[in-house]
Amino acid sequence: MPTVLLVDDEPSIRLTMGEFLKRAGYSVLTAADYNSAVVHNVENLDVAVIDINLPGKNGIQLLQNIRDAEVYVPVIMITGEPSLSVIPEIVRSGAYDFIAKPIVKDVLLNAVGRAAEKKRLIDEKRRLEEEVRRHAEELEMRVAERTAELVETHKKLVTQERINALGRAAAQVAHEVKNPLAGLLLYSLHLKSKAANFSESETHLVDKIVDTINHLNRRVEQILGFARPFNLKLTRANINQVVNDVLELLQPQLTANKVEVRLSLNQHASDAIFDDASMRGTLMNLILNAIEAMPDGGTLSVTTDRVSDALRVEVVDTGRGIGAEEAKKIFEPFYTTKTHGLGLGMPYARKMIEQHGGTISLSSGLGEGTTVSIVVPAVQKEADNAR
Ligand SMILES: Nc1ncnc2c1ncn2[C@@H]1O[C@H](COP(=O)(O)OP(=O)(O)O)[C@@H](O)[C@H]1O
Ligand SMILES: [Mg+2]
Repeated sequence: MPTVLLVDDEPSIRLTMGEFLKRAGYSVLTAADYNSAVVHNVENLDVAVIDINLPGKNGIQLLQNIRDAEVYVPVIMITGEPSLSVIPEIVRSGAYDFIAKPIVKDVLLNAVGRAAEKKRLIDEKRRLEEEVRRHAEELEMRVAERTAELVETHKKLVTQERINALGRAAAQVAHEVKNPLAGLLLYSLHLKSKAANFSESETHLVDKIVDTINHLNRRVEQILGFARPFNLKLTRANINQVVNDVLELLQPQLTANKVEVRLSLNQHASDAIFDDASMRGTLMNLILNAIEAMPDGGTLSVTTDRVSDALRVEVVDTGRGIGAEEAKKIFEPFYTTKTHGLGLGMPYARKMIEQHGGTISLSSGLGEGTTVSIVVPAVQKEADNAR
């Protein structure tokens, strides 16, 4: 229902015209002068009908007041005598229309009807403009978001491609070394079988050769293992068991570095679906790194947790910590700060976790110890060949 403000100092006009308007379906507000008219908020009006001759401030001033408002309200002026002299002023002041006294009902309703329609169209236009503007803004935002996403994806792909290329190159070298190594091992073992003729130091030397070859072989296997595309075998498995097994395997290193172990293994975490073998490899790498970061002793805490559909494992050490600059590099293949390090532990862990559709994150500062968190989906589709 459009709202009409009717301003006239004659009570009879307010009464009769107000009644006509109400019957025609308008909601009507009335005022006798400028001051009682301006108490009505212009924003709530659809049309104003104003007598030009008002006591005190006149109708033209009220018209100007309404024209100054933020919103557009069409104003119909009522002129006293049918004198044409005031019309230019009315038009200049921005009136929408005018009607002359004595007011004829149909003329009034006609003018108000047209004004209300104009107001409706203008409001509608504003609403549409606002909507278009909002859509444009939204679109711009989405384009910006998508662009950022694409840039991020591109970066990831470039990094991934570099890692893959590095892996391929390493694998090539490893392959070339692998066969001669196998030969060397055979020769050495043959040599060893002649040990009866050797002095003690010579036997010791041969043992050293065999050890070194075995060490090289393990390295080659590690590199090949990293470069080889691996297929996850998702089965129902127990992360707490994995943690316990890995710790048992690393018992010698724990003892050597005087590391105290604190476990917080949540029972809810014990039933999930993941690739057991690569999870073992990952935790082995992370826990070994933690131990190696505490050569003078410290505390290793391992936490497992199940948060709705995700499995969370946290490996915390009180070791040397990792600076911000260094943190950027530790996932790069072959980045290591250790004399006998290979630098494949962290990249392997990331590759494996990402293949699970999970994330691996690091929080550390130099001298503050390190927390590595992994989150993987706990509910995945089991492999078809899984038992
Ligand atoms: N928990 C940790 N505390 C301190 N430094 C770490 C930790 N984990 C990894 N790093 C750093 O990241 C490097 C890369 O780790 P990794 O890929 O496992 O290779 P590697 O252990 O063979 O050096 C390590 O050499 C070490 O400097
Ligand atoms: Mg390591």
